[in-house]
Amino acid sequence: MREEDFKKIEDADNSVELLAEMGPFADLMMYYRCAIMEVETKFRVLNEQFSVQYNRNPIESINTRLKKPSSIVEKLNRKKLPLSLKAIEENMFDIAGIRVICSFEEDIYTMADLLLQQDDILLVERKDYIKEPKENGYRSLHLIVDVPIFLSNEKRHMKVEVQLRTIAMDFWASLEHKLKYKKHVQNAEEIAARLRMVADVITEMDQAMQDIHNMIELRDEMEEHGE
Ligand code: GTP
Ligand code: MG
Repeated sequence: MREEDFKKIEDADNSVELLAEMGPFADLMMYYRCAIMEVETKFRVLNEQFSVQYNRNPIESINTRLKKPSSIVEKLNRKKLPLSLKAIEENMFDIAGIRVICSFEEDIYTMADLLLQQDDILLVERKDYIKEPKENGYRSLHLIVDVPIFLSNEKRHMKVEVQLRTIAMDFWASLEHKLKYKKHVQNAEEIAARLRMVADVITEMDQAMQDIHNMIELRDEMEEHGE
């Protein structure tokens, strides 16, 4: 992008709209959309194979999102980074986001491992908030991966943020998200304390669900072997 284009963005009140209309920015967003498609397909392929081979779907649902231009600009400003495509690509690894919701905790690790084993996927960062939950009770497995996309004239490496969680963790996170992003919440402390309590309850529940699931699977296996 040219220097004067950035000047225009910085000067304009409607900088966000301007940014969104610019060719190179639109191209970059297209690359991220392609990267999301690649990673989403990888998970769908794994789920498909499991459903045929093991007669079950480890993935409950998949959600994807591309960070909005307004959020990108806000984050660049917050991190005191220049408003440039280079700064976006080199520093912001959550432009492309994919959330994989599993029924059971073990499936989270299975799916993550199977993705990372693929020879075109590179692990950039891994944060295990399941083994080490955040202070507020947040649990999920976060990966930043590098994935190639193949365009007509080039191959590009893009970063994608992958969040893997159980249905219960997702339920909790969406409610907690409301607390975090609402400006004036009354009783914020009480709400936070309750959320921490509920986080413990769902941790126990996830474990109990996993145990029951394992018991059912074991029984199935024994029946198959005529035991
Ligand atoms: P950001 O600069 O906000 O992206 O943080 P980070 O780079 O340290 O990333 P981290 O892996 O901690 O979190 C990335 C994303 O995970 C967030 O944008 C949220 O979508 C989700 N997340 C992380 N922590 C929480 C949390 O405490 N509550 C909820 N609801 N979501 C969270
Ligand atoms: Mg992040």
